[in-house]
Amino acid sequence: MDLPSFISAMPKAELHVHLEGCLTPSLARQLARRNSLPLPPSLSALDETGSTYAFHDLTTFLQVYYPNLSVLQTSQDFADLAITYLSKAHAQNVKHCELFFDPQAHTSRGVPFPTVVRGYQAGIHVAQRSLGISASLIMCFLRDQSAEYAMATLMDSLPFKDIIIGVGLDSDERDNPPSKFAAVFQRAAKEGFLITMHCDIDQPNTLTHLSQAITEIQADRIDHGTNIVESPELIATLKQRGVGLTCCPISNSIVTADFKGAEILSLLRQGVRVTVNSDDPAYFRGYINENMLKLAEGTDVTRRELIQLQRNAFSISWISSWKRNHFLQTLSEFERKTLGLEEEGAGEVKEAEPGVGDEVVVNGA
Ligand code: HPA
Ligand code: ZN
Repeated sequence: MDLPSFISAMPKAELHVHLEGCLTPSLARQLARRNSLPLPPSLSALDETGSTYAFHDLTTFLQVYYPNLSVLQTSQDFADLAITYLSKAHAQNVKHCELFFDPQAHTSRGVPFPTVVRGYQAGIHVAQRSLGISASLIMCFLRDQSAEYAMATLMDSLPFKDIIIGVGLDSDERDNPPSKFAAVFQRAAKEGFLITMHCDIDQPNTLTHLSQAITEIQADRIDHGTNIVESPELIATLKQRGVGLTCCPISNSIVTADFKGAEILSLLRQGVRVTVNSDDPAYFRGYINENMLKLAEGTDVTRRELIQLQRNAFSISWISSWKRNHFLQTLSEFERKTLGLEEEGAGEVKEAEPGVGDEVVVNGA
């Protein structure tokens, strides 16, 4: 089996994808027409043949990303966005997804919180029923907005705990450290939400932010976070607590000068629960298979290690134990079928123990 077919056939989990980052130019055009709205400027600058957006780092990316969301108005729009992404994920053999969304990107322009969540929830239910794919939502706070606005958003989310399993932190990291939101995450944990947060690549004070996320906020996962490779102490804490990293090679290659393959592989070989994900696929032009392939083609990662990345993903996903065991078994069967039984002592990477999220039973679990 060639490498793209091997990656494509592998059962996978997607833990770092922003629903708003799945808004393709063609869906955005459809929604603008349906809602009788003008196209946002960066979208109208794109031709229909698929020219690319202009951005070169996180800040300039976000300047394109947020204005495009103006075409999302009704619950049906949000449902369509979720269905479009989940259909693509299903076609790439993704079995389970945990989907980030940014409610403040919508409430700040007058779209009510329930319109957003009920829409995404309806889309997830349609995809679950028609495709059998498993999915849940992670609500992200915008870190360049105030902690008070984040707390108010957390309060808005309380009636929706059946579908929102955790909270995260995204948008522009510069001058917006995790500690700014310590009280919000403390309350979120009290309310039973699991916690993840972006520690973006090569940010100013990146190790301080990682340390705050891991030790002060006690995050259950970190999104990106590959700069942790610079700190043996933080790696030791991460491993001891079983915290996983959701890495996104293509996104890295677009917002920084490098896809960080060497760092991802180094962490994997040190036993950190790293995973590979797609981040904002409509903008970065790569879903999970293309991200796995980017890592595989740019490093000497072995096929067994590619499977280990997915074993990590199912292990750190926020699903019930029985669902996790089912997915892990399916992955082991795939490994036996494609690579045979592993010779004793041949693999450098140990099977990750189930950890954070073990007791969590989410909608559809
Ligand atoms: N980093 C921060 N905020 C984001 C990202 C990201 O990679 N994608 C969408 N919002
Ligand atoms: Zn992200």
